[in-house]
Amino acid sequence: MLALKTSPYTENIPARLAEYEKLQSLGLIVRSGDFFPSVHYPPITMYPPLTPEELLATYTPPADHRFDIYAHVPFCRQRCLFCHYPVQLGERSAEKDRYLAALAQEMDIYMERLGYERLKARSILVGGGTPTYLALDQLEHFLQILDRRLDRSECTQYNYDVDPVTLIGTEGNERLKMMRDYGVDRLTIGIQSLNPATLKLMNRHHGPEQALEAIADARKFGFQVNIEFIFGYLGQTLEDWIAVIEQAVGLGVEEIQLYRLKFEAYGDFQGPIKYQREHHPEAVPTVAETLAMKQAAINILNAHGYRENLRRVFSKKPEHYSHYADNQCCGLLDQLGFGLTAFSSLRDRFGLNTQDFAEYYQRIADRRLPLNRGLIRTEEEQIRWAIILPLKNRRVWKNYFRQVTGYALDEVFQPKIHALKTHGLITEDETKIELTPLGAFFADEVAQQFHHPDYMPFPRFAYNDGPLNPYNNTEVFGGNYAG
Ligand SMILES: C[S@@+](CC[C@H](N)C(=O)[O-])C[C@H]1O[C@@H](n2cnc3c(N)ncnc32)[C@H](O)[C@@H]1O
Ligand code: SF4
Repeated sequence: MLALKTSPYTENIPARLAEYEKLQSLGLIVRSGDFFPSVHYPPITMYPPLTPEELLATYTPPADHRFDIYAHVPFCRQRCLFCHYPVQLGERSAEKDRYLAALAQEMDIYMERLGYERLKARSILVGGGTPTYLALDQLEHFLQILDRRLDRSECTQYNYDVDPVTLIGTEGNERLKMMRDYGVDRLTIGIQSLNPATLKLMNRHHGPEQALEAIADARKFGFQVNIEFIFGYLGQTLEDWIAVIEQAVGLGVEEIQLYRLKFEAYGDFQGPIKYQREHHPEAVPTVAETLAMKQAAINILNAHGYRENLRRVFSKKPEHYSHYADNQCCGLLDQLGFGLTAFSSLRDRFGLNTQDFAEYYQRIADRRLPLNRGLIRTEEEQIRWAIILPLKNRRVWKNYFRQVTGYALDEVFQPKIHALKTHGLITEDETKIELTPLGAFFADEVAQQFHHPDYMPFPRFAYNDGPLNPYNNTEVFGGNYAG
């Protein structure tokens, strides 16, 4: 049993852990307590090979010709120990020039294939890597690359993912000003922790002071600010974590995101954290400690007016969400991604770019799109997708589900929906189904109930053989009530 110091932020933790054990015994959660983030359907790690020609042959752009745009910049100062992204490390100025030129060409090839001279952006997200880890002239060049190719007249949000160090001091502030001048209005800053010992163990290249300075500077330049934290990290205690989140809610940021540490890769590149776990198992918080951290953070955030707006993203005002994420997960709208590892989600199909630098450059040199995996979803896969993403992140509107799939929600997954309602994980009324607070806490596992067995994150035997084992009642139509 987890020993807890009495605090208003820890009172409900024993009850939450009891629910966890019960849901595990019913088969919802794997026996090991491990988790698999539900972000796309099928999961991003499970796509078969696909050529750009196959992806685009039968694709028709949306009627309003608008896309959410993602651009990826895979360069970082040094590797964070928890990171599973393929990135190049260090200054590498010439390599960055080469990459930016290739990215511009990739956008041109895509536009040519789709028949556009410019892309009408609904929202823009620039991620990495560290897309601000560019010299000032390079950053300006990159902003111009995007500016020339994107029509921003109907763009509702322009977000940059950044690390704190690139924003501070004279040069950092020049970057902030430059991004504002080019229309960037929102920053997602990877803070990860405000505890100096944890930051050190993460191999981050900054301490808490620089992180706080970066947040203050970003706010000074008028950005909407979203900050990200990781919990369940090596050496982290519940007390340390509570202190970090208590500090975070006092910073005046619009949005706070929580990530549970993921040890296994969710792409081709396995980061060093898995080996750290093998060598220092004593430093790894238990599953119970990790879930206690999550519950304590939710308690603190709620007590300070931050509500879960999209799953594991907390904001004071409902409008302070990521438009890109909302359009992807709830709107199910068409999105184009450019750069290494980027993906495009195009209504009934998904294309994933290569994770290999050499292949990326070669494809561009051959004037071919660098995507090499993906899927055109069948009707059945489309039905699963149209439940999984909105259910996990917010709610499934019945009208919209019918519009997207052609089926009534009442016609599909009846035994599943019945079982999830019976066990208090979802609620249903005439207009929607949505997660209860308990379901929201275990949102990944509830979402995975709707996976096809071929795309399940763990094998059947990893779960208890109870009524919520996700391998029960996996058919979309028909099936028996398992109770
Ligand atoms: C798409 S990543 C972008 C990383 C970005 N370069 C940074 O460090 O700020 C977004 C966030 O995912 C989280 N993250 C990255 N690796 C993780 C892991 N192994 N487990 C859990 N969260 C992780 C971090 O909070 C990170 O800021
Ligand atoms: S976590 Fe972010 S900053 Fe750290 S190495 Fe990975 S991509 Fe770079």
